[in-house]
Amino acid sequence: MAPSLLLFSLFFLLHHPLSSPSPLPRSTLFKSNLLSLPNPSSNTSITTYFEVTKPIELPHTKPCSYLLLHHDFAYTYTKPPVLANYTPPSNCPSQNFAKIVLEWKATSKGRQFDRIFGVWLGGVELLRSCTAEPRSTGIIWTVEKDITRYYSLLMTNQTLAVYLGNVVNSIYTGIYHVDIKVHFYPAQVGSSYNEAKLGDSADLILPISRNLPLNDGLWFEIENSTDVESKKFEIPQNAYRAVLEVYVSFHENDEFWYTNLPNDYISANNLTGTAGNGPFREVLVSLDGTLVGAVWPFTVIYTGGVNPLLWRPITGIGSFDLPSYDIEITPFLGSTVDGKIHEFAFSVTNALNVWYIDANLHVWLDKTGAHTEGQLLSQTLLPLVVSLVSNFTGLNGNFLTGCSRSVSSVGWVKSSLGNITTNSTQAFNFSNFMVMGNDGNLQIVNQIIDFNDSVHALMPTSSSQSIESFKRFPLYLYSDSVDQGNGSYNFVTNLTLGFNEERTKAAGSGFVVSSLKNLQNAQGIMLVKGNLVVSGVGSTQQAYQYDGSKFCYFRTVGSSNYTILYDKVGNICSKNFRPRVGFGLAKSLPFPARRAYLTSVFLDNKKLH
Ligand SMILES: *[C@@H]1O[C@H](CO)[C@@H](O)[C@H](O)[C@H]1NC(C)=O
Ligand SMILES: *[C@@H]1O[C@H](CO)[C@@H](O)[C@H](O)[C@H]1NC(C)=O
Ligand SMILES: *[C@@H]1O[C@H](CO)[C@@H](O)[C@H](O)[C@H]1NC(C)=O
Ligand SMILES: *[C@@H]1O[C@H](CO)[C@@H](O)[C@H](O)[C@H]1NC(C)=O
Ligand SMILES: *[C@@H]1O[C@H](CO)[C@@H](O)[C@H](O)[C@H]1NC(C)=O
Ligand SMILES: *[C@@H]1O[C@H](CO)[C@@H](O)[C@H](O)[C@H]1NC(C)=O
Ligand SMILES: *[C@@H]1O[C@H](CO)[C@@H](O)[C@H](O)[C@H]1NC(C)=O
Ligand SMILES: *[C@@H]1O[C@H](CO)[C@@H](O)[C@H](O)[C@H]1NC(C)=O
Ligand SMILES: *[C@@H]1O[C@H](CO)[C@@H](O)[C@H](O)[C@H]1NC(C)=O
Ligand SMILES: *[C@@H]1O[C@H](CO)[C@@H](O)[C@H](O)[C@H]1NC(C)=O
Ligand SMILES: *[C@@H]1O[C@H](CO)[C@@H](O)[C@H](O)[C@H]1NC(C)=O
Ligand SMILES: *[C@@H]1O[C@H](CO)[C@@H](O)[C@H](O)[C@H]1NC(C)=O
Repeated sequence: MAPSLLLFSLFFLLHHPLSSPSPLPRSTLFKSNLLSLPNPSSNTSITTYFEVTKPIELPHTKPCSYLLLHHDFAYTYTKPPVLANYTPPSNCPSQNFAKIVLEWKATSKGRQFDRIFGVWLGGVELLRSCTAEPRSTGIIWTVEKDITRYYSLLMTNQTLAVYLGNVVNSIYTGIYHVDIKVHFYPAQVGSSYNEAKLGDSADLILPISRNLPLNDGLWFEIENSTDVESKKFEIPQNAYRAVLEVYVSFHENDEFWYTNLPNDYISANNLTGTAGNGPFREVLVSLDGTLVGAVWPFTVIYTGGVNPLLWRPITGIGSFDLPSYDIEITPFLGSTVDGKIHEFAFSVTNALNVWYIDANLHVWLDKTGAHTEGQLLSQTLLPLVVSLVSNFTGLNGNFLTGCSRSVSSVGWVKSSLGNITTNSTQAFNFSNFMVMGNDGNLQIVNQIIDFNDSVHALMPTSSSQSIESFKRFPLYLYSDSVDQGNGSYNFVTNLTLGFNEERTKAAGSGFVVSSLKNLQNAQGIMLVKGNLVVSGVGSTQQAYQYDGSKFCYFRTVGSSNYTILYDKVGNICSKNFRPRVGFGLAKSLPFPARRAYLTSVFLDNKKLH
């Protein structure tokens, strides 16, 4: 009997849904994502889904709130994005905002896949997210995102675009009813500075995405390992700092890229319709043909992934607000402030169809308007190193994939702030141990991604500022499928998914440190027929601990079979957390430098005094 290869193939999501969900050969059916059957006998109240995350720190002021868009996303697949005119707040008593929050609220009812969607303002992506899968009794969920870093963009007239490719027919009945709002929180009266303006936010944000009109999202689609998608842009000649914020999501054959099998295993076993190219992927970003950095993405699991019952009501880490990744471009700025056209390009190592990628270029401008100049001094690349140990007999075996890379770029930019030398370094490490057993019906994946970034800016006064981020993404996925002999399968899955990040901002002798540990464990069983979950149960436990210089936050929450079993929230810092804060800071740097570069370091300290 042919093995029901592979468990995971079942979860390849049709974010590009089929135009008609007609019966397909089995191997193709395995490429569809799962949805649960509506259960008419279940509790008739509406289920609220949520992602565990820390609250947005808000000033004690009354926000000016605006509804940007109400839309019912029915059959929207391959239709143009929904557009709306955006104007900055005009009737708000204050024009000085400390915080700006985007709110996405949606309801749905019936049966529907999880759908990827994006929200763009002037082509700049504000939110990448995935819808929750509805129930027959109805669901509701809200996503709130701090969008203060897009301050300058939000102060100008723009076009809002939302793409959510949904298919509605007699089988897939869920329509998404969506409200998008923005809340502007005025800076506190008496506060001597405007956090947003003096903080991290850039003077100009350029879209590195596809231009409207489109019958799709504004993201680029990377379809294979040789596909390169690019965008031309031009930046003002008085730019002194630039950061590229990259948005990434993966779908269809690469939705579960970390479970994809090595090609030698696939060919030796004559498998067809099984996603391959092994379990390693990376997004590469180049500027005018030079590699400027990479993204080794967090393994977001969408709401229909692995077992949809795991994500009701606690959704997977990052699934409602996919992380974006910053790449410091400042070392390369010298070659781009020449008033000419330049080009960013994206590719994905080992990619299978399809990756959605775009970016926002955050640019800081010299207020004196003077032309800046600069030069890349050096670049040290430790190219991708891949090691693969493949050990299998027939459909059983084990595979160890290890990869590493580093990119370090040093360049100077001279502006009215002085001649600042910036060293931007990324260091990556990846290991994936995969076991295949039970003639291909059992798969165990144990993976760790290390993603370290540092930016060091050497100031003219020979003092320095830095931002460092150490990210670690662990993943453990056990899955076993048993063929029931009538076209249905029993699946057992155990999952551990973690997102950990430690951040340090330093200037002179001052430090601001934060730490996030976010871990989910989940266990599920289900009976699957086609792409429908006929029955089953999912349980999820999550522990979230954030320690910051301004506040700490924890939440532990567990659910099973749609019911919350426990939920503890608090603001106690973890025992071993020691925020280190410097006090010699104001003295160590001249005023213009303090305000101009990596400014949040100083704001954080100011608040703590
Ligand atoms: C339905 O669910 C809600 C909240 O989940 C609960 O408070 C209520 O008791 C449930 N009702 C029934 C009839 O099970
Ligand atoms: C922005 O849009 C508003 C409303 O359409 C219009 O009145 C205003 O003149 C526009 N502002 C600019 C700077 O174009
Ligand atoms: C990769 O994708 C690009 C873009 O769709 C296509 O032009 C190219 O032919 C593909 N290459 C291979 C080897 O399939
Ligand atoms: C794969 O196909 C080849 C050629 O048809 C055949 O010789 C070989 O035995 C097949 N291998 C397996 C594992 O089915
Ligand atoms: C290959 O796998 C077999 C079965 O799991 C194991 O006994 C053997 O030690 C492995 N060999 C290597 C070199 O890892
Ligand atoms: C800026 O500093 C760098 C590094 O010290 C130096 O190589 C470069 O010549 C300086 N540029 C100017 C315009 O002084
Ligand atoms: C840049 O920073 C990295 C990481 O901190 C360091 O290893 C490297 O030596 C620095 N390069 C230069 C030229 O200072
Ligand atoms: C990332 O940083 C951590 C903490 O300093 C270190 O233990 C780890 O080896 C680094 N990883 C890479 C790939 O550089
Ligand atoms: C990379 O990962 C491998 C396997 O986990 C480990 O042996 C190695 O020390 C790591 N390297 C760094 C620089 O973290
Ligand atoms: C298939 O068979 C299994 C076990 O024999 C049974 O539990 C299940 O109800 C059947 N499923 C369908 C959809 O017929
Ligand atoms: C899966 O999780 C359950 C519940 O935590 C546990 O009892 C079981 O041993 C786990 N199985 C595997 C293979 O990890
Ligand atoms: C899950 O809950 C439903 C109703 O709320 C109940 O009928 C079912 O038996 C429960 N399943 C398990 C495995 O506890």
